[in-house]
Amino acid sequence: MVMPIIKSRVPFAETFIPPSIADREIVKHLIQAHLAPLTRGDIQPVGLHVVGGLGTGKTVTIKVILENLNIPYVYINLNSLAKAKAYHAIAQILQKLGGTPYGSLTRLENIVKKMLSGKAFVIVLDEADACPRKELDHLLHFLTRETTVTVILISRKPELIQELAPDTQDSFKYRECLFEEYTQQELLEILKQRSKLALFSTAYTKEILKEIAKEAEKIGSARYAIDLLAEAASLAEYYQTEKITKKHVQEALERVRKTFFETLIAVLPKTHKAVLQCLFNAEQKNIPLSVTALFECVKRTLEKNKLGPITKRQFERILQSLKERNLIFIKKVGLGRGRGFRVYVHLADYLMLT
Ligand SMILES: Nc1ncnc2c1ncn2[C@@H]1O[C@H](COP(=O)(O)OP(=O)(O)OP(=O)(O)O)[C@@H](O)[C@H]1O
Ligand SMILES: [Mg+2]
Repeated sequence: MVMPIIKSRVPFAETFIPPSIADREIVKHLIQAHLAPLTRGDIQPVGLHVVGGLGTGKTVTIKVILENLNIPYVYINLNSLAKAKAYHAIAQILQKLGGTPYGSLTRLENIVKKMLSGKAFVIVLDEADACPRKELDHLLHFLTRETTVTVILISRKPELIQELAPDTQDSFKYRECLFEEYTQQELLEILKQRSKLALFSTAYTKEILKEIAKEAEKIGSARYAIDLLAEAASLAEYYQTEKITKKHVQEALERVRKTFFETLIAVLPKTHKAVLQCLFNAEQKNIPLSVTALFECVKRTLEKNKLGPITKRQFERILQSLKERNLIFIKKVGLGRGRGFRVYVHLADYLMLT
C-alpha cells in the first residue's frame, strides 16, 4: 500500500490562518508595539500603512497579530467589495458592530460615528490599492476625522497615500511598515511550518522544501511557495509515489506559474497588460524585443483594443513599474565595437511557460 501524502488540504487554502507567523520578527514587534495602547482600551490615533509585494505576508501578519492581541477590529478587503466601496465598507463596519445597514451613506456614517465614539477599535482596509482613489478618500476622511479608530491600510503600492487628496493626507496620520520580499531561508521556514500542518512527515524531505524555497525566492512570495508545495503534493499523490520528488516540483512549477501569472496580471491596468501580452507573444516565438519594438507593439495592441494612444513617457513609466514588480527585466546588448548597444525587454524567467 502506498503511504498517503496529504494529511489535510485546509492549510493550503488561501483563507487559512496559521497558528503563528514564521520570521518577520522586526515588523511584528513594530506593529505590536504600535497597537499596544489598544490592548489597554486606549485609542491609537496614528494608523499604519502596511506595504509590500505579492504574498509577502501582509494580510496574514495583521490578522494573526490582531487575533493574538485580542483587539476589537473589522477586516475589510476593498478588492472584494462591489462598486460604491466606501458605502459597502461602512456597511460592513456597522454590521460588525451589530447594526443593520440600510439607508444612505450619511445615515450609516452617523450611526457608526456614535457607536465608535471614543472606542479602541481597529479597521483594516486591505488591498487598498484596488479601491478607486475617490472612494478611498471618502472612507479615510470619514474614519480619521469623525471617529477614534486606528486605520490599518494594506497595499502593494508605496506611493498610495501620495495619490490621495491633500486633505485626506493631512488627516491620515500613519506609520509606514514595509514588508520586504522573503529570502530563501524565510520561505523555507514558512514551508516547514505549512508542510507540518498539511503533509504526512513521511511524504517530504527538507531537500524538497529547499528546492521549492529556491524557486519561490525568485519572486519572494510566500503564496507562490505554498502553492508550489500544494501542487507538488497533489502530483505525488496522483502518481501514487511515496514521497514528493524533484520531478513533482518541476511539474508543479509549470502549472503554478501559469495561474500565478494570471492572478498577477489580473490586477494590473490594461496598458500594463498590453505590455506583458506583447512580450509574452514575442517570447513564445523566440523574438527578442527592443524597447522601441516593444513600444510599437504596445501601441498597435492598444489601438486594436480601442484603448487610446500612449506616449513614450507613459510607456517608460509602465516599464519602470513592471520592473519594480519583478515582472520584466531589461538587458543591454552591445552591437559590437563602437556601434553602441541596444536595450531589450524580457519577461521575468519565472513567467516563461515552457
Ligand atoms: N511569515 C509567514 N508565516 C506563515 N505563513 C505565511 C507568512 N507569510 C505569508 N504566509 C502565508 O503565505 C500566503 C500569502 O500571505 P498573505 O496573503 O498574507 O500575503 P499578502 O502580502 O497579503 O499578499 P497580497 O498582496 O497578494 O494580498 C498565505 O497563505 C499566508 O498564510
Ligand atoms: Mg493580502
